[in-house]
Order: sequence, then C-alpha cells, then structure tokens
Amino acid sequence: MSTPVAILGGTGQLGFGLAVRLGKAGVPVIIGSRDAGRAQEAAERAATKVPGGTFSGAANAEATAAAGQVVVLAVPFSSSAATIKSVAESLREDHIVLDVTVPLAPAIGGKPTQMLGVWQGSAAQQTQSLVPKGVRVVSGLHTVDYSTLEDVAASVDQDTLICGDRKADKAVIIDLLNQIDGLRVIDAGRLDQSRTVESLTALLIGLNIRFKTHSGLRITGIE
Ligand SMILES: NC(=O)c1ccc[n+]([C@@H]2O[C@H](COP(=O)([O-])OP(=O)(O)OC[C@H]3O[C@@H](n4cnc5c(N)ncnc54)[C@H](OP(=O)(O)O)[C@@H]3O)[C@@H](O)[C@H]2O)c1
Repeated sequence: MSTPVAILGGTGQLGFGLAVRLGKAGVPVIIGSRDAGRAQEAAERAATKVPGGTFSGAANAEATAAAGQVVVLAVPFSSSAATIKSVAESLREDHIVLDVTVPLAPAIGGKPTQMLGVWQGSAAQQTQSLVPKGVRVVSGLHTVDYSTLEDVAASVDQDTLICGDRKADKAVIIDLLNQIDGLRVIDAGRLDQSRTVESLTALLIGLNIRFKTHSGLRITGIE
C-alpha cells in the first residue's frame, strides 16, 4: 500500500479533485487546511464521493508531519509562500513537495489569462527557495482542470508535464500520478522549465473562455 499523501489546501478545487482521484487509486490521503475542522469535513466529503478511499483531515502542519514521501502544495499562488512557511518545521529531508501552484495575475487583480513575474523564475522555484534544506520540489498538474479530476467516474484522458531537478524525485511523482485513471505524466525537464509549463495554464484558461470548455493537454510523438 502507498504511503499517505498530504494535500495542503486539499479543501479547495484542485486539491480536493486530486484527493478523490488518489483515493480512488488506493492512495491514502490526508487533506490539509488552515482549519482542522474544515479539513475533516472535506475528508468526509471525499469519503462519500469515493467510498473505498482512505481519507483523513488535519491542519496543514499536522498533515505534513503525517505525510509519507509526498506533500502537495495546492493553495492560491498569493498564499503559497505563507503556507510553506507555516509547515516548514514539519517538512523532512525525505519529503518531495509537489507544487501545483500557478502565478496567475488575478492574485493582484489581473486577468486569469495573464501570468505574474516571479523573482525566482516560477512558482515552483519560489517554493524551492523556501523549503528547508534537503526538501525537493517537483511541479506538475498545472494544466489539469479541477472539475476533470473531481469527475471520478470519467477518465482524465490527458497528459501533464512535471518539472524537477532530480530524476528519482520525478520517478516518485510519475508513479503516484500515473495511478490516476487516464492521466499520462511526462517529465518536462529541470525545475527551471516550470516557468514555461506554468504559463500553459494561462493559455488553457484563455481557450476555456473562448470555447466554453475544460481543455487539457496532449503531447504527441512521445511513447
Ligand atoms: N482550480 C484548478 O482547476 C487548478 C488547476 C491547476 C492548477 N491550479 C493551481 O492550484 C492552486 C490551488 O487552486 P484552487 O483553484 O484549488 O484554489 P482554491 O480552491 O481557491 O484554494 C485552495 C485552498 O487554499 C486555501 N487558501 C485559500 N486562500 C488562502 C489564503 N489566502 N491563505 C492560505 N490558504 C488559502 C484554502 O484552504 P483552507 O481555507 O482550508 O486553508 C483553499 O481551500 C492554485 O495555485 C492554482 O493556480 C488550479
């Protein structure tokens, strides 16, 4: 059986969608929140949606401490630094932080089709600069819409690109996310590539608005 995955901000759209998908795949999930009660309520909701899943809820720091190898950061970009700082004491050297955050302009009142400049280069590199020494960041899932994840009866039917500096860490994330029905995970290179990958979200949001849909990514030519 897989070790538990903690999802910080697992009460929200993307985090909850990922929680139910992982739960469906048999991965135990600890939903994290700033409020333990809200986390427990989300865990109950997830268990109703996926009756065979193993879900619990805890405050973000406790969820991080109880995580096996993977801690998912699934909060708005505007609160990602504060969230990482709030769990820093619970992060261990064997942890990999899967960062799904995207620095979209609405964080400062801009359009969802526009990106913010991040001093470190990308949201994922900012997170890497904030985690304790030894903890590694892998970014991914930027282009997967939460509603597609939440619809657990349907195949996700798309690709997702992940970025990270260590092959072994990316292998852990690939093994984890490949358990989601219909999701293909592709290694897109080092963490500094996340700047390009994160910006694909703004592109897809524009397509969603134009075509009134939930678009996803499919890379051809890679077996
Ligand atoms: N939504 C998508 O389809 C999607 C797809 C790909 C990537 N993403 C990325 O995933 C991340 C989460 O997106 P989302 O749509 O799931 O966000 P969300 O639903 O707005 O928020 C997720 C959770 O973050 C916590 N949160 C909200 N505001 C906060 C604040 N000011 N300070 C600290 N925590 C706060 C909340 O948890 P508590 O109140 O329980 O603490 C909330 O439930 C974003 O960076 C987004 O760019 C989203």
